[in-house]
Amino acid sequence: MIPDLEASFSLLREYRVPPHIVGHSVMVAKVSLVLGEAVNAAGRRQDFALLAAAGVLHDIAKFATLKTGEDHAQAGADWLEDRGLKSVARVVGQHVRLQLDVDKPVDEVELVFYADKRVQHEKIVTLEQRFIDLRHRYGRNREALGSLEEMKALTTALENKIFRPLSWVPGEVESRVAAAEGNRHGHVADYFRQMSVLHQKYIDNQPDI
Ligand SMILES: [Fe+2]
Repeated sequence: MIPDLEASFSLLREYRVPPHIVGHSVMVAKVSLVLGEAVNAAGRRQDFALLAAAGVLHDIAKFATLKTGEDHAQAGADWLEDRGLKSVARVVGQHVRLQLDVDKPVDEVELVFYADKRVQHEKIVTLEQRFIDLRHRYGRNREALGSLEEMKALTTALENKIFRPLSWVPGEVESRVAAAEGNRHGHVADYFRQMSVLHQKYIDNQPDI
């Protein structure tokens, strides 16, 4: 089962996810949807409901695991799995560590992973900028810096895989998302509108953290 956006935001509230993480997650969902639409136009079948839910929920455990030091991707996947949300759990569980197979068709796991690496806080940035940010935040020692370098190489390979069949380039993600914000019709525009309403409600009615 894939939770709809209303159910996804209820889960964020239940797990007391702070508004800044929700803001980041909404933008990751938007980038995932825009990429999903483009990939589908090139002949694939990405599930928009899954992209939206997994984007919104990918960091559900981030704040809660700050103190415990647990792996937030795994913890989030476990929580969602316990609720019977298997497909979303699968995407959330791989948003930090991805097994990339460049020969396999693009899927929702890869799109959400990639979208997360293009969104710094709530802003769309290049992979280069995002990895500078990640190095500042997580590059505590040589080992951590080495894993970030590996992740950057993998994400660059994934970027090439996603964009190869598309008619536009990674630098256009921001303008494509802005264009989708202004669209009145279409599936992606419907998701954008619904997310904006639910996000605003979340901000207006913040949970106690
Ligand atoms: Fe995360």
